[in-house]
Amino acid sequence: MSNHSNILIFDSGVGGLSVYQEIANKLPHLNYTYIFDNEAYPYGELAHDTLIARVEKLIGCLVEEKDIDLVVIACNTASTIVLPTLRSQLTIPVVGVVPAIKPASNMANKAVGLIATPATVTREYTHDLIRSFSQSKPVEMLGSTRLVDMAEEKLRGKAICLDELTNILEPLRHHIDVAVLGCTHFPLIKEEIQSVLGESVLLVDSGEAIARRVEALLGADKQEKCGERSIFSTAPPWEEGALNRALNQLQFSSVQHYPLKI
Ligand code: DGL
Repeated sequence: MSNHSNILIFDSGVGGLSVYQEIANKLPHLNYTYIFDNEAYPYGELAHDTLIARVEKLIGCLVEEKDIDLVVIACNTASTIVLPTLRSQLTIPVVGVVPAIKPASNMANKAVGLIATPATVTREYTHDLIRSFSQSKPVEMLGSTRLVDMAEEKLRGKAICLDELTNILEPLRHHIDVAVLGCTHFPLIKEEIQSVLGESVLLVDSGEAIARRVEALLGADKQEKCGERSIFSTAPPWEEGALNRALNQLQFSSVQHYPLKI
């Protein structure tokens, strides 16, 4: 494939930027298009059928319009249900992000905590992962949309309230030794999660593995020069000024609107 491959990254909000950062660190020369479906955010509380229809439509349109070579569904909540249909509809590679249960279980001595969205912790896909890859270690699941909101707030410059975070994570505190960040928003608040769970708890996410997968699919032909970066949202984002400042630091131009017509 060409050195200037066009890659499309999808999430419901800014969480996929944690995956973007991992990929762009390895492959800065690619052209990145990022789309977030904030009109239907949070995906962790969205009906299955609505989620699938929206993702299919958005990805289908953008792949054609932007001449995309590879898609990353940088959202665990979406990946756990949309990958088979997307892969059957598209001729380009579709990389998904699912909770890193397998490596976490291998690293744990006591128990694994899975921190994800309310939808991801109920998905059959997630339960299958646990059955297949964590037979010997118990996995305790915690689903929270508030944590997702906190990551959205932090990216816009708002401080995280550690007391609130402690209350949310209380069910996992003191009896797990590995925590899976099973939502792409959570690496954005990793430091705060670490300080609440304690330094002895290992935090695992899928970002690095996704970047390796993309590199394997597109080739590692490194170039210093940065590719282009553009970002789209399905609705006007809140605190757009603060968001754009953060996006500009990540080399993106300001957010452009891309309404979804279903
Ligand atoms: N970032 C997403 C995930 O990985 C979804 C967050 C949400 O919209 O609920 O699951």
